Amino acid sequence: MLTANEAFRKFKSRLELNEREQRNASARHTEVRDFLNTKFEVVRSFLTGSYARHTKTKPLKDIDIFFELKEDEKHYRSKSPSVVIGDFYEALVKKYGNDAVRKQSRSVGVDFGVVINADDNTDYRVVSIDVVPAFAAGNDYEIPDDDSGRWIKTNPEIHASKATAAHQAFSNEWKGLVRMAKYWNNNARHGEKPVKPSFLIEVMALQCLYGDWQGRFDYEIQGFLSTLADRIFDEWPDPAGLGPAISDGMDATRKRRARELLMAASSDATIAINLARRGRNGEALRAWRALFGPKFPLS
Ligand SMILES: Nc1ncnc2c1ncn2[C@@H]1O[C@H](COP(=O)(O)OP(=O)(O)OP(=O)(O)O)[C@@H](O)[C@H]1O
Ligand SMILES: [Mg+2]
Repeated sequence: MLTANEAFRKFKSRLELNEREQRNASARHTEVRDFLNTKFEVVRSFLTGSYARHTKTKPLKDIDIFFELKEDEKHYRSKSPSVVIGDFYEALVKKYGNDAVRKQSRSVGVDFGVVINADDNTDYRVVSIDVVPAFAAGNDYEIPDDDSGRWIKTNPEIHASKATAAHQAFSNEWKGLVRMAKYWNNNARHGEKPVKPSFLIEVMALQCLYGDWQGRFDYEIQGFLSTLADRIFDEWPDPAGLGPAISDGMDATRKRRARELLMAASSDATIAINLARRGRNGEALRAWRALFGPKFPLS
């Protein structure tokens, strides 16, 4: 039987991006890019967000693609964010249909109708992408934010380099733990998503997951969940110091609920650790699986 740590290693690798998924993601990118190039003046487009940083969890949903627009499209920049979102939406509906396309505050989502099975597998396919219109602004980008009705600044390179630095400082285990915590967040009880946006988990991890990696996933995850619970009421600014605070995504009620669920998860993790300590390994693995969801292996 697997030890808890072996099960965590397997869990970690199941949440890693593999070659087939990357091939599908780039095929989808090409398809959307070739279509949008016929509708808008695009400088370039690129896969970004947690997907590009390897902090996206499974199933692969909402992969961000930035579309950097040319000067010719700059008229959008002086208009409300809803205008560019609306025009991208109209364009994408022509190709993918009403049911597959949705407006979001900073992007337009396109769903590819991929089936997610009971084990959270998608036959290596990307479920959906988020198309983000963007303008270059010096070394940064400006993207629409329909929640605030403003254009906000962002810088994917800074987010990526901070994630890489944190990963290296934590014996290359940081991204794996972030993906695990985000997987928990997507599978938490009753379909609730406790932490919103899930980028907040990564942002908090920049400060909450540090020090020396002690070689034990169970202790690290338990401690991480507990720290997330403790610090969920803190203000968490954009790590690049450009956009609105990442913690603005939740109001006080949501934060209280997130804290409750994080505390419950942390104590479930303690129970699982204690089961293994008493030699009840099978029960420990089932407890971890109940905590995380179907990608946590039992064998
Ligand atoms: N408030 C913000 N200010 C500046 N940049 C932001 C902000 N929120 C998100 N971003 C940037 O936009 C990217 C996409 O945002 P998104 O909410 O999809 O997060 P994500 O990291 O891709 O996580 P997920 O795995 O949930 O998709 C982020 O990775 C980050 O680089
Ligand atoms: Mg994203």
